[in-house]
Amino acid sequence: MKKDVIIACDFPSKEATLNFLDKFEGKKPFVKIGMELFYACGPEIVKEIKARGHKIFLDLKLHDIPNTVKRAFSVLSSLDVDMVNLHAAGGSTMMKYAIEGLTRADGTRPLLIAVTQLTSTDDEMLKNELLIDTPMAETVMHYAKNAAESGLDGVVCSPLEAQKVKDFCGNEFMTVTPGIRFADGDVGDQKRIMTPEKAKNAGCDFIVVGRPITQADDPVAAYDRCVKEFLGE
Ligand code: C5P
Repeated sequence: MKKDVIIACDFPSKEATLNFLDKFEGKKPFVKIGMELFYACGPEIVKEIKARGHKIFLDLKLHDIPNTVKRAFSVLSSLDVDMVNLHAAGGSTMMKYAIEGLTRADGTRPLLIAVTQLTSTDDEMLKNELLIDTPMAETVMHYAKNAAESGLDGVVCSPLEAQKVKDFCGNEFMTVTPGIRFADGDVGDQKRIMTPEKAKNAGCDFIVVGRPITQADDPVAAYDRCVKEFLGE
């Protein structure tokens, strides 16, 4: 799949989400649907946005025993989503089962992306709560490698780590990167950020952009600016 800008549709309801997408007359941005919206509205919101012609990254971060993950992904794959994810911490058997569950009868499947360590986990938590003595950066790269070796398509990571992931796991292994901000925009609660323009040459395959677009005075103009900076279109 070619590089793209994914809008994080972090809205609490179907109405707010569809009102937002209505602004994009004639354009069909790739959208990310997360737990909040999916748990509030169920599969219907996915079907409705898909029927409108958008590509969908369903960000539910599955993590369970291999058989349960396989069966859950089989259901999600039938929703015709384009990208899904799981926690690499579930292990390589779980990741391989996930691919089996996602693969449709015709051999196609959504892209499968791994979360390595959540950005809310810091070194202290890694050591003291999770009892992992390996430093964070090494842990993240090791989980990424496990994902690549299990057949996954890529990882979610900071744009600042994207090139390192590619160097470690291969150039074909995709990077999906949140933490994107315009040079003249609000940073908000994100810490390790990059502009869409810089992300273009930093090994990022997909940038995930939320508030710089959803909270903009003119969301369509903000989206167009992202596309222009990141894809040069
Ligand atoms: O509004 P903002 O651009 O910060 O939104 C970024 C999106 O990416 C949000 O949906 C957020 O949950 C998600 N995300 C993130 N950092 C991660 C993983 C996901 O910001 N490490």
